[in-house]
Amino acid sequence: MFPSLTRDEVFRIETPRLWLRWPRLEDAAGVAQWSGRPEVAGATSTVPVGITTAEMAAKIADMRAINAAGAGLCFAIVRQGADGYPIGMLGGQAKPGKRFEIGYHLNPEYWGQGRMTEAVQALCAQAFELASIDAIEAGVRPSNIASMRVLEKCGFDASGVAEHESPLYGRYPIVTYALARSRPSALKAAALRRHRAATPATRELVGLV
Ligand SMILES: CC(C)(COP(=O)(O)OP(=O)(O)OC[C@H]1O[C@@H](n2cnc3c(N)ncnc32)[C@H](O)[C@@H]1OP(=O)(O)O)[C@@H](O)C(=O)NCCC(=O)NCCS
Repeated sequence: MFPSLTRDEVFRIETPRLWLRWPRLEDAAGVAQWSGRPEVAGATSTVPVGITTAEMAAKIADMRAINAAGAGLCFAIVRQGADGYPIGMLGGQAKPGKRFEIGYHLNPEYWGQGRMTEAVQALCAQAFELASIDAIEAGVRPSNIASMRVLEKCGFDASGVAEHESPLYGRYPIVTYALARSRPSALKAAALRRHRAATPATRELVGLV
């Protein structure tokens, strides 16, 4: 799905404050420390609370294999001009029907500074640019307002509620989000939005009103 350009680890995405680069095995110990915290891991469907370095190394190996096969774009998020140490992880994988499904998590030390919004906007722009994708999708637990806000600020719309099956956390409901390529200037329009979290439509959908 993705071209040879992205299948080599020299490929990077630059945002105003961040680099999105391929994750490396030597990132595993540091990333495991913050991503295993309950408030981070427990909001994902794939990261166990207390994840070990070996488990994180296996995940990073999988992410690199997805990148190398051109089946997705999986990155470590690092701050520009800093130590190169990952403060977040962000990835997307191709799904049948020209869909691209994304997931992400950030070190709590950096929450609330607009960093994941910046990273997700850049990833989505590149995914649409580099691959034949019709829609980018994500699923969020109804209690995860911060993640819903990230998606809404990136131009995603809540499309429904579904039952999710996680090998780690069992079955639970998620709010499904989608960003269509056809949506006019979706990413630009998103930057101008100033809704309160989450938008009234989403609040109604997930029963927050
Ligand atoms: C979700 C997550 C990635 C957000 O990263 P972030 O860099 O802090 O996100 P941003 O700063 O770009 O945006 C967060 C938005 O949520 C808002 N927000 C956060 N908590 C909120 C709350 N309890 N109620 C209302 N709004 C809230 C922030 O104010 C901000 O919106 P604003 O810019 O309109 O003010 C981060 O919290 C995280 O890693 N969480 C754990 C893992 C996770 O949830 N992954 C996603 C699974 S679907």
